[in-house]
Amino acid sequence: MTASDAIYTRLLERLTPAKQQHLLRYWNDLSAVQRQRLSEQIDSVDLELVARLFAQRDASEDYRALAARADAPPAFRVGVDSGPISRTAAAERGTEAIAQGKVGAVLVAGGQGSRLGFEHPKGMFPIGPVSGHSLFQILLEKLAATRRRYGAAIPLYVMTSDATHRETVAYLTEHRFFGLPADDVRFFQQGNLPAVDAETGELLLADRGSLALSPDGHGGMLAALDKSGSLADIHRRGLEQLFYFQVDNPLVVMCDREFIGYHVLSGAEMSTQVVAKTAPEDRVGNVVSVDDQVRIIEYSDLPIENAVQTNADGSLRLWAGSVAVHVFDVAFLARTANSPDGTPYHVARKAVPSLDAAGEFVSPAADDKNAIKFERFIFDLLPAARRSIVMEVDAAEAFGPVKNATGAAKDTPESVERQMVALHRRWLEAAGAKVDDAVAVEIRPGFALDAAEVAARLALPCRVRTATLFE
Ligand code: UD1
Repeated sequence: MTASDAIYTRLLERLTPAKQQHLLRYWNDLSAVQRQRLSEQIDSVDLELVARLFAQRDASEDYRALAARADAPPAFRVGVDSGPISRTAAAERGTEAIAQGKVGAVLVAGGQGSRLGFEHPKGMFPIGPVSGHSLFQILLEKLAATRRRYGAAIPLYVMTSDATHRETVAYLTEHRFFGLPADDVRFFQQGNLPAVDAETGELLLADRGSLALSPDGHGGMLAALDKSGSLADIHRRGLEQLFYFQVDNPLVVMCDREFIGYHVLSGAEMSTQVVAKTAPEDRVGNVVSVDDQVRIIEYSDLPIENAVQTNADGSLRLWAGSVAVHVFDVAFLARTANSPDGTPYHVARKAVPSLDAAGEFVSPAADDKNAIKFERFIFDLLPAARRSIVMEVDAAEAFGPVKNATGAAKDTPESVERQMVALHRRWLEAAGAKVDDAVAVEIRPGFALDAAEVAARLALPCRVRTATLFE
């Protein structure tokens, strides 16, 4: 028996009880390299888990029932300073945590820019309105400037996926991590889950020698942090809080000291930032309170009749939209990483190109949802936290996600660029500068991170007549 026959026999013994032996249908047509790759892919799949998820595909969380019991969450609101903790106290406590080197950062960057028509990691998408700098550059420069502001190390953990890993590492390395010390940047790769046939539960083949796999969702972060040794690194460095942010929001207030301060002073284990929704159908997760627990109901899961409910003053009852910025206590992450229950898997019915039974490659139309994909969401950890706080930020200052291609109604590259220009213009004008109408301005994070820093940098009033990058 050849080595390849032995691998075939072993795989067949694993696949047959799970009724997935069709994956070996083209074994004889594959080269040695392709066989090796296919066997590694099959070995990486937890067949029992996939079978269980498929069997339970229609028994997911009853969001209708959950939404019926949902209330607006208690929150630290913008412009309101009457809560149990003052803004000043929060800022001071957050500053202390960062300055003492207790805070790390996690950037989830497993997504491609496909929705933007950009076939690279989304983080490489150019967004600086004057500079053309990429999302990665702006975010990492913000982190570098934050480290300088507090005189502290803030290690960064970057989550990539199969699709983004190689290019992301090459890009960031080539650009010397945009000013961050190489020792303080660590990559870790999220796992994959197979797409299955929506009718039969059979795993789909992307071609004769590979499975149709996709990233396991940002909820895969927890297992991936642990498996990659990053969680051990976090412990070794003595970090106590992790500031979590997404790759698509260049406006994020990096390691927001007030947010971290509220979290620590409240004794929270996981906390989350929100904006006030502008319309019931806004495509943001809905941060709600159910039985005194904070949780997030994704926009696609919130029934419209709940979304449209209003208070007596006409404001939305479920007003809090997730900006997907969280703070985690490290001890909480370590506890949940080892919990057998973990977070639930969400079922998504999708059109997935794959081989049909006759071995022909078929690319279904977008509405022909031939496959089921499974994903975990990191925010589903919220109910496991003993305590969570919610802090509102002003969307104009802290939330400009690049989601949709040019021409869409919202969250396009152009709308985010306009938002950046408007914010930076306000900072300059507050510092006494005069910016001519319709002139684009951009402030590089190394120049200033907020209005107060702009004021400190602009000693003399200035007039801005042409597009200017302040750096
Ligand atoms: C997401 C949130 C939504 C929130 C909004 C704010 C989910 C399911 N929904 O919506 O509640 O209001 O952001 O902007 O997250 N990612 C990975 N690996 C994955 C999947 C995603 O790293 O397997 C990363 C992406 O690179 C991106 C982020 O997670 O940074 C968000 O993913 P995306 O699918 O774009 O979520 P949205 O639908 O935009």
